[in-house]
Amino acid sequence: MFEELYTDQQIELHNRTRELAESAMRPVAAKYDEQQTYPWEVQHAIRDAGLSGVWIPQEYGGMGGGVLDLCIVVEEISRVCGGMGVGFAVNALGSFPIMIGGTDEQKERWLPAIAAGEKLIAFGLSEKKSGSDAGSMITTAKREGDCYVLNGEKKWNTNGAVASFNTIFAVTNPDRGARGISAFVVEEGTDGYRVGKHEDKMGIRCVPVVEIHLENCRVPADNLLGGDEGRGFKHAMITLDRARPGVAAQAVGLAQGALDLAMGYTHDRQQFGQSVSSFQGVQWMLADMATQIEAARQLVHHAARLIDAGAKQISKVSAMCKLMATDVAMKVTTDCVQLFGGYGYCKDYPIEKFMRDAKITQIYEGTNQIQRLVIARNMLRESAS
Ligand code: CAA
Repeated sequence: MFEELYTDQQIELHNRTRELAESAMRPVAAKYDEQQTYPWEVQHAIRDAGLSGVWIPQEYGGMGGGVLDLCIVVEEISRVCGGMGVGFAVNALGSFPIMIGGTDEQKERWLPAIAAGEKLIAFGLSEKKSGSDAGSMITTAKREGDCYVLNGEKKWNTNGAVASFNTIFAVTNPDRGARGISAFVVEEGTDGYRVGKHEDKMGIRCVPVVEIHLENCRVPADNLLGGDEGRGFKHAMITLDRARPGVAAQAVGLAQGALDLAMGYTHDRQQFGQSVSSFQGVQWMLADMATQIEAARQLVHHAARLIDAGAKQISKVSAMCKLMATDVAMKVTTDCVQLFGGYGYCKDYPIEKFMRDAKITQIYEGTNQIQRLVIARNMLRESAS
């Protein structure tokens, strides 16, 4: 980290998170990956270290940091475990719609418990038949008296099985397309809200990714974010613009963590009577990886700074950093497995997990094909104006 470019708080945040990741996360990462269970001890350590509400305003009990602060923390966690990185970051994804579209009363109701690390929140946009085409969702919310009755299923709900709150998007007016979608905060324990299938995943295995079933689920009308129907899709898009740098930071952390391991391994490993890292071919690989990671990190931090500065047009740069950093993570983690040779392919060494964890970053919060679509649409709009 170039200390000249960051505030004292950001440097402290970086150092605090690295220390916590090394002491409380790295030693248990393989165990939770193997068991595919949620690491509550890690969640409690994050809470006790005061990191849970980094992105939440101070008036709601958070640290009052921005997207850059969030990215710094996510990168450091992901440097030791990509699953723990997303397990943390998804709370920002779930709470951004409240921060963006919620009333003061709603912010007061839900944000302090998230900021304190007492409650977790998930994000329910995707469905079985609506992934990239998020606007084609079919989950409905019908007003009945002082409630909305939700019916449908949500898919790929990260942390859904452990979260107390879930930001659920549903159609309140089927005649209005994307403008007929609204966002609700549904609390765990609400009648008709049920966690369904747990996915058996290639990577990020310590976080539960589940289906959420909504069966005549009656949600108080004042859980409709903002109090107005029809603003949910826009708020989901604004949320994704703010959250995608977090996925990109997860990718940078995974790539950096893999490279750090590969540096150590190629230094120690002797072949042909010398350290493997003394071969020029290996050195060029290490240099290329470090260069790609630094370029990705700087694009992520640039996007985060623009968002924190209140820039209006952030969709393009947010999509760019997600696209670039996650492709770098996939390439770097694959090359690092290569540097470990046969050992890299086996679970005796931690490196193969980085490659498995990296793959999902190219897929969730919008596939990298969707990122290209967002980038190109914005380029064409800019050139036309
Ligand atoms: N900011 C504000 N408003 C936006 C916006 C943005 N970035 N993007 C679109 N909108 C608005 C448009 O202005 C339009 O509003 P009006 O009707 O008022 O004109 C409305 O939203 C519809 O816009 P489009 O016609 O452009 O929408 P579209 O149907 O063509 O879809 C898309 C656009 C970018 C492809 C969008 O569907 C998308 O982002 N898809 C990917 C979804 C995604 O990322 N899903 C991941 C979910 S989270 C997850 O992965 C799980 C997890 O738990 C980690």
